[in-house]
Amino acid sequence: MSSSSTLAERVAASSRVQPREKNQTQPQTTVLDRIGEHVLLDGFRIVIDLEKSKGSYLYDAAHSHRLIDLYGFFGSNPVGFNHPHFDKPEVKADLLRAAEIKIANSDVYSEGYAQFVDMLWRVVGMPPLDRMLFIEGGALAVENTLKAAMDWKVRKNMAAGRGERGTEILHFRHAFHGRSGYTMSLTNTDPKKTDLFAKFNWPRVSTPSIDYSLGEEARNADVIAREKKSEAEIMQFVHERGVDIAAIIIEPIQGEGGDNHFRGEWFRTLRRICDENEMLLIFDEVQCGMCATGKTWCCQHFGVQPDLMAFGKKAQVCGVMAGPRLDEVKENVFRTPSRINSTWGGNFTDMVRSTHFLQIIEEENLVENARVVGAHFLARLLDLQSESPIITAVRGRGLFLAFDLPDPATREEFWKGAFDLGVFTLRSGERSIRFRPALDITKEVVDEAIGRLREQCERMRSR
Ligand SMILES: Cc1ncc(COP(=O)(O)O)c(C=O)c1O
Repeated sequence: MSSSSTLAERVAASSRVQPREKNQTQPQTTVLDRIGEHVLLDGFRIVIDLEKSKGSYLYDAAHSHRLIDLYGFFGSNPVGFNHPHFDKPEVKADLLRAAEIKIANSDVYSEGYAQFVDMLWRVVGMPPLDRMLFIEGGALAVENTLKAAMDWKVRKNMAAGRGERGTEILHFRHAFHGRSGYTMSLTNTDPKKTDLFAKFNWPRVSTPSIDYSLGEEARNADVIAREKKSEAEIMQFVHERGVDIAAIIIEPIQGEGGDNHFRGEWFRTLRRICDENEMLLIFDEVQCGMCATGKTWCCQHFGVQPDLMAFGKKAQVCGVMAGPRLDEVKENVFRTPSRINSTWGGNFTDMVRSTHFLQIIEEENLVENARVVGAHFLARLLDLQSESPIITAVRGRGLFLAFDLPDPATREEFWKGAFDLGVFTLRSGERSIRFRPALDITKEVVDEAIGRLREQCERMRSR
């Protein structure tokens, strides 16, 4: 690699990363080598320094590089690094006790589990979805919403004399619901993630997301027309094989598929279709939930409640919340032992850590922070868009924000340039940059990031 290569290129290409600082300890210099010996290194090839990383700044020890963290462990970090709450001796003791043992929560109950359930319900509970299941991983959370819906629909069909059928899940183009067995049949973003694996031929329809590259009037007309088209596609499937369709699943904002937003009217349409056709409505809030959009759950912006909701990422513990429609079937999976379960039933250490994060979220009013700082971030991105012709379709709710670049190559160049300037962002869809900061980011950090993004725009303009 030439000496003029950028830091991002070196980070992406190096198999053995040399530190710049002389006093760096040996283990940090070999972290990538040691992992790479046995594991495919397809991550960012940075090595996090957990001591030096603070608040919204992630410190990359491999390159002695401080990054503004707008990536947030792929949107899964609720609160910035080294929050002072975790310096309290009693908090440290609580975490250590939990980390020393991995309780099988499904069989053996504990005070820590009870505290977590109490706290989760109090801080982010969404009545009437009061039945819960905890499991490790967002994909498995989604997978269990699917199993709950299949069981519900098949039992209904059997009771009505229609036989043991009703396991299909209607879903959308550009959806990402994870990479586990059943979710393989739903996820359709990057074919690399799904090609060649066994899949079901479940109904897939077009995605009536808002096109932010259009002016407001054209944007409305366009999305209304596409909602009608998608609704017609859904109704066609319902007429042809409605008896086999257990549920409709949607991300209230599609994340990996390109930060695709929908109108509230669309969720109301889906709610009506599900109610009228004996299907359950599932929201996958693994990425857009848990306060990121400036409300506790994204669907609360639209006043539409699902029957089942999958959560994960910023919640730290993944799982399912289920509402009263499940109880139309007496022996549903939330009432029948052993129908859905796993050894660990969620992760005990994660539950204890999550309890502390929930306390911080509540005490520091971080849902409101996400709303206020997110609105500031959006306004600054709109400024940038008005100055820089390469940036279009700025969009966001709370701290869940994105914009488009003209094509995948430009997006790549922009992402790398921003990384070199110390702004760590994520890519989504074919040509978007997305932002997934922790909930306690400040306006000052946002302004610092915007300054660097502006510098990157200028660099690309003057090429
Ligand atoms: C909307 C959505 N659903 C499900 C998942 C899968 O979660 P996990 O990677 O924890 O299995 C993701 C992960 O990015 C996601 O964004």
